[in-house]
Amino acid sequence: MKKILFIIVCLCAFGGTAEAQLAAGQEKFLGNIISRSIPDDFTKYWNQVTPENAGKWGVVEAQRDQMNWEGLKLAYEFAKKNKLPFKQHTFIWDQQKPRWMDSLNASEQLEEVEEWMQAYAQNFPETDMIDVVNEPLHAAPTFKDALGGKGTTGWDWVLWAFRKARVYFPKSKLILNDYHILSSDSATQVYLGIIQLLKTEKLIDGIGLQGHFMEKTEISTIQGNLDKLHATGLPIYISEFDVHIANDQEQATKFEALFETLWEHPGVSGITLWGYQQGRIWRKDAYLVKSDGTQRPALVWLEGYLKR
Ligand SMILES: *[C@@H]1O[C@H](CO)[C@@H](O)[C@H](O)[C@H]1NC(C)=O
Repeated sequence: MKKILFIIVCLCAFGGTAEAQLAAGQEKFLGNIISRSIPDDFTKYWNQVTPENAGKWGVVEAQRDQMNWEGLKLAYEFAKKNKLPFKQHTFIWDQQKPRWMDSLNASEQLEEVEEWMQAYAQNFPETDMIDVVNEPLHAAPTFKDALGGKGTTGWDWVLWAFRKARVYFPKSKLILNDYHILSSDSATQVYLGIIQLLKTEKLIDGIGLQGHFMEKTEISTIQGNLDKLHATGLPIYISEFDVHIANDQEQATKFEALFETLWEHPGVSGITLWGYQQGRIWRKDAYLVKSDGTQRPALVWLEGYLKR
């Protein structure tokens, strides 16, 4: 009798599902992306949500002034229902911007960028985190001159974007996001320069580091650059982590080394993986759950590691 009562209480505590996420109860989150549909086992593993493509401007507003919020609504409502932090990805990025932007003059471009943020804010006011600018070092927008260009700081267009984001999203954590930062000392220096400019105006709440392509990076390089970024005092978010290796055992070994380094660093406040299902992932060999539902060794290790 006691046992039965105990089981009922447990089921209720988890809101009807007996599943807890891998990082449940920890200070850091371990999230994943949501693509076109929500995987049945999402909350068995992950406790933060980023839309894979649905939050990119070119997807939402492929036709000027015709907003398609469908994919974003799916991911946002799922996150809110399950009380998982939700991150918007992303407002300003050259890739996957609307193509019609390049045919407008500067004053129209400026208006359109602001309209995009404003329209997003009206629909998703409880967005916890936002990648305001994506890949400033690698994919600055063709319309950046409309936002102030390089200006006197070298990054006036980034400052403009974060100032606007602060106005429309006073409660959200504003994040800068890019790749090939942790693997490069010189890129880390440039990134720190932008972060300092934003910090001076209290415009940035977190440092986003994508975490793709780190399979060949020395752990000591990653550690050193994490330390430099951590010295800013801002939380670090690994925003698009994956380990793209076809061989199961080799993937597991590399995954363990990289994940431990990132997860155990005092500056890191959360890690988001960029997919986990075989056949439904951007970098095809980075999956953790096979098509038949079984786990690759890297995921078996991850479950055990986070329980310890
Ligand atoms: C930009 O384009 C709009 C619409 O064609 C036009 O009304 C406006 O005068 C143009 N602005 C400039 C500065 O050329």
